[in-house]
Amino acid sequence: MAAATRKRKTEHIRISLNHNVQARKMTTGFEDVHFIHKALPEIDKQKIDLSTRVFNHEFAAPLIAGAITGGASEATKINATIAETVEEFKLGMGVGSQRAAIEDKKLEKTFGIARKKAPTAFLIANIGGVQLAHGYGLKEAKKAIDMIDADAIAVHLNALQETVQPEGQTAFNGVLDKIAELAREVDKPVIVKETGAGIAAEEAKKLEAAGVKGIDVSGGGGTSWAAVEYYRIRKTSNDFQRKLGNAFWDWGITTAVSVAEVSKTVNVPIIASGGVRTGIDVAKSLSLNASLASLSQPLLHAASKGIKETASVFSLMMEELRNVMFLVGVDAVRGLQNTPIVVTGKTAEWLRARGFEVEGYARRRSK
Ligand SMILES: Cc1cc2nc3c(=O)[nH]c(=O)nc-3n(C[C@H](O)[C@H](O)[C@H](O)COP(=O)(O)O)c2cc1C
Repeated sequence: MAAATRKRKTEHIRISLNHNVQARKMTTGFEDVHFIHKALPEIDKQKIDLSTRVFNHEFAAPLIAGAITGGASEATKINATIAETVEEFKLGMGVGSQRAAIEDKKLEKTFGIARKKAPTAFLIANIGGVQLAHGYGLKEAKKAIDMIDADAIAVHLNALQETVQPEGQTAFNGVLDKIAELAREVDKPVIVKETGAGIAAEEAKKLEAAGVKGIDVSGGGGTSWAAVEYYRIRKTSNDFQRKLGNAFWDWGITTAVSVAEVSKTVNVPIIASGGVRTGIDVAKSLSLNASLASLSQPLLHAASKGIKETASVFSLMMEELRNVMFLVGVDAVRGLQNTPIVVTGKTAEWLRARGFEVEGYARRRSK
């Protein structure tokens, strides 16, 4: 079992590095979110403060390296590189699913390296929601947390991936109850995250009622897990499964819609992810009332090259975010949550069809 999990993890990394596994037809929806340029910003760009406090932790900027990996030999270097960089920048980091190391102690170091290289950064452990419905519980969650001395634990939801994967685990009954149990018993914040297909308002409401302390929407428009599985299946002669992966390549709720819906529905902090590629996307996420933004695929590519490349992804995003803040005249990230925006196109249509108000979107309470 552990060997199969490890092999799958290695394939995911290699496929994501060697093929284009980004959404093909779907976009994040960030292109429908517009700021109103201020010709008179009336602030000093040099005095803009990117720091923010979320989950009782001070982040130097509202950025988290998304859950990617662990459990495979390539993973140690990738996790070490990302961890060293987030420590330097005082950001956060999620590790990939820790299932392989929960099953095989020898693999713990592929995750533990993250805490070694990032002694003070906000680290998020990771386990699968569907595993919770099939025997995982408090013991495994604590193991995952202890392995990296985590500040929080993410439970990932990956129904799309499981359903297009030949060996997928698709009995999802009882996942919500197990999440509620974990939220009651674990002494660290439990965050629920999707993996590229988004979270709808209805689900977010249930998750908040279950006691989760944060929601990472991981919406559509970025990495597609149907695409990753498509390439994994392509190597075999399983034409039927390959067609399934291809058909579901662009499945999901876009990231902009997901953040917008969820932020209008729950009060827990929201992490925007799924195709977040620039500091402008980060700014748009915050304007839709997310508290943090996170990215995975670009960091996997950068980390496979080295620390310099990984650092430059973060520094560019931070500078882009700072520029947006300057151009809309806000000097603290909280201000972005009250900055007027215009939501157009499919994103506006979707939100209206779902009963959400679009006009005056950004004149909400700030959290
Ligand atoms: C190679 C790879 C492995 C991933 N493994 C995990 C995982 O183990 N657990 C998890 O919660 N998400 C995992 N993800 C999903 C990401 O955390 C994220 O939700 C998704 O990739 C969308 O973000 P992106 O468009 O910035 O890549 C993985 C993503 C990639 C690219």
